[in-house]
Amino acid sequence: MYKGQILLAIESSCDETAAAIVQDDFTVVSSVVSSQIALHAKWGGVVPGIASRQHVIVMNSVIKEAIEKADVTPEELSAVAVTVGPGLPGSLAAGISAAKALCLAWEKPFVAVNHLEGHLFSAELDGAQVEFPAMYLLVSGGHCMIVYASERGRYTLLGTTRDDSIGEAYDKVARELGFEYPGGPIIDKLSLQGKDRYQLPRPMMERGYDFSFSGLKSAVRREIDKGNVVKEDIATSFVVASMDVLSTKLRKAVSEYHPNSVIVVGGVSKSPILRSNLTDGSLGKVKVIFPSLKYSTDNAAMIGAAGWWQFKTYGASEDNVPMMSNLSLPLAERKDDD
Ligand code: KG4
Ligand code: ZN
Repeated sequence: MYKGQILLAIESSCDETAAAIVQDDFTVVSSVVSSQIALHAKWGGVVPGIASRQHVIVMNSVIKEAIEKADVTPEELSAVAVTVGPGLPGSLAAGISAAKALCLAWEKPFVAVNHLEGHLFSAELDGAQVEFPAMYLLVSGGHCMIVYASERGRYTLLGTTRDDSIGEAYDKVARELGFEYPGGPIIDKLSLQGKDRYQLPRPMMERGYDFSFSGLKSAVRREIDKGNVVKEDIATSFVVASMDVLSTKLRKAVSEYHPNSVIVVGGVSKSPILRSNLTDGSLGKVKVIFPSLKYSTDNAAMIGAAGWWQFKTYGASEDNVPMMSNLSLPLAERKDDD
């Protein structure tokens, strides 16, 4: 049973087909995620053509399951929200087409959601209260950024990656060590068993808020090429170096901007090492919030929360909104008071 209003949210920006029913207070009534990991594993990364084909195959059953699990009828929905970018064009198109068709058939408002903003809302799905101003660290397979929000929806991008995202670096290091995609979780686990004995660089650690991970990844490859690398130890050294960079930059951002909350989201926020590193008191007294593990990686519930806020604040989107594979966080667009 749900209280208040509900919407249907759909997410298909990369290799997860997901649908959720979310209440206007961000309570998740149902959340279904169909992962394609097994289909892409042997290829070493997401194959765009395979991803869009699979979204088309499972989209209807995923939506149906979310509706059935929530025990609701289409008439009860206030809107349909969907990720319109960033992401893979064919993958995005599958979710957007489904959402637009449902809005037309059910005569419901259409809400176009930014995937990155969805991640920023993911930590609030379990009732956690974000106090603004807030500092977000988004660490995923596609992105690595520090975002300051003076209030909800008012974002200032402090820094982003100049090359690889952190998740991508984890996955590439895993591939060099012979593990299947996505190797991030494997590297993370392995790193708990090794020793930090390889000298690896901390790129751009003392410079501004931007990140760079390709040099770190290449340094790992050079160690592997020398032969006889101890997998656990190189994983530990890589994770320690990455965490060093992330926590140093976040600490600097916290001491400069004095937020009331720090929110760490995206697939890499699943990492127990990252979680313990950022909650050991080194960020000071600020409240540090993580999403529950099931909402760290891509899901539709986070799109529902971002969709609700957007729908209540700005109303429905135009139904001719296109797919935007390179969409960035809405920065200038939301500078509505100047
Ligand atoms: O947020 P997400 O599902 O997708 C994007 O929006 O990009 O993040 C996926 C990324 C992958 O690179 C994966 O290897 C990484 O998150 N990941 C992890 C862990 N679990 C997933 N990285 C480190 N430690 C983990 N436990
Ligand atoms: Zn994502």
